Amino acid sequence: MNILVTGGAGFIGSHTIVELIAAGHGVTALDNLCNSSRKVLGRIERITGRSVPFREADIRDREALEKVFSSEHFDCCIHFAGLKAVGESVKKPWEYYENNVGGTLVLLDVMRRHGCKNIIFSSTATVYGEPEKIPVTEDCRKGICAHPYGRTKSMLEDILSDLYRADIENGDPRPWNAVLLRYFNPIGAHPSGLIGEAPGGIPNNLMPYITQVAVGKLEKLHVFGNDYDTPDGTGVRDYIHVVDLAKGHVKALRATEERSGVSVYNLGTGRGCSVMEIIKTFEKVNGVSIPYVIDPRRPGDLAEYYSDPSKALRELGWRAELGIEEMCRDSWNWQKNNPDGYE
Ligand code: NAD
Ligand code: UFG
Repeated sequence: MNILVTGGAGFIGSHTIVELIAAGHGVTALDNLCNSSRKVLGRIERITGRSVPFREADIRDREALEKVFSSEHFDCCIHFAGLKAVGESVKKPWEYYENNVGGTLVLLDVMRRHGCKNIIFSSTATVYGEPEKIPVTEDCRKGICAHPYGRTKSMLEDILSDLYRADIENGDPRPWNAVLLRYFNPIGAHPSGLIGEAPGGIPNNLMPYITQVAVGKLEKLHVFGNDYDTPDGTGVRDYIHVVDLAKGHVKALRATEERSGVSVYNLGTGRGCSVMEIIKTFEKVNGVSIPYVIDPRRPGDLAEYYSDPSKALRELGWRAELGIEEMCRDSWNWQKNNPDGYE
């Protein structure tokens, strides 16, 4: 298939492009580089031996998107482009709604005008809010998101569902076809050490913070709370290797070929892992020490949050293959080979 990957220079987008190429798909990457580097493209070429056509464009720029869709036919768009920092979204909600919701509306409009109504959308486990049950299944009700970032994702899921329903009501012979992928906690990096996560400034998320402590850029990790009702008192999450996540998108592509409608899948391992387990595993597999202090809980954090990913196995034939050890090994391999990211 010929695929447009928005946000293709980003963390998950770049890994997905590698897997799409390995599976024999044609790929064009589109990104405005607001949170990524053009250098990613050269790294993808080194891994795959293929150069990826790149369009530097903003999804809010209708004219630019018109040019992209006029120049070739895309069978599907895998849509990663968006802003993703939870804390920043609280401080700059307008920017998040305008970029994520506004940008996606422009993208969807240009797509439908050009007869491309297949989309795989990057959603997040955050849409469940405080989930009805753990492990979380896709039939759990969506909850109240604690931040604008999560709300943009939840709104976009609803928008895609409404578009599909309207097509059916209107008897559209080619209705929208959307796969909504709710990611749990993506970490890790490509085993080559050539692509990985490169957050600007001080990282908000656990793994990039740990790798920056390990490389000496940050002094110590702050563990947010050790008094949760979890086996060791620290927060439990469902960490998933980014290469597994990327492969989930390749499997989801097949679903867009085989059926129409809106399908939702959790992409996680189904295994909860605590902050302390991550620290200990990182130290063990990499032979480095991670100094840490226990701080108070971070407001808004839940004690535990992990997926039931069995629907993705049943319907997509996908399951995560890599464990915490590989995630810690590959995150460190990326960080130590690229201490300043793509700089
Ligand atoms: P990322 O920031 O590395 O990648 C997103 C890319 O989109 C960046 O390269 C950025 O430059 C680009 N972009 C942003 N706004 C754009 C615009 N208006 N036009 C064109 N390009 C634009 O983030 P990521 O971790 O790779 O996440 C990819 C997607 O997955 C995002 O939509 C994110 O919300 C979602 N997601 C990420 C996580 C996570 O923990 N990483 C979890 C759940 C969902
Ligand atoms: N943590 C620390 N210290 C840190 C950072 C995190 O102890 O410096 C802890 C947190 O308290 C939590 C765990 O590590 O228990 C994971 O925290 P992250 O910030 O890495 O991830 P979250 O689960 O809080 O959030 C992630 C993404 C969000 C997304 C959410 C649900 O960052 O964008 O998963 O998908 F919305």
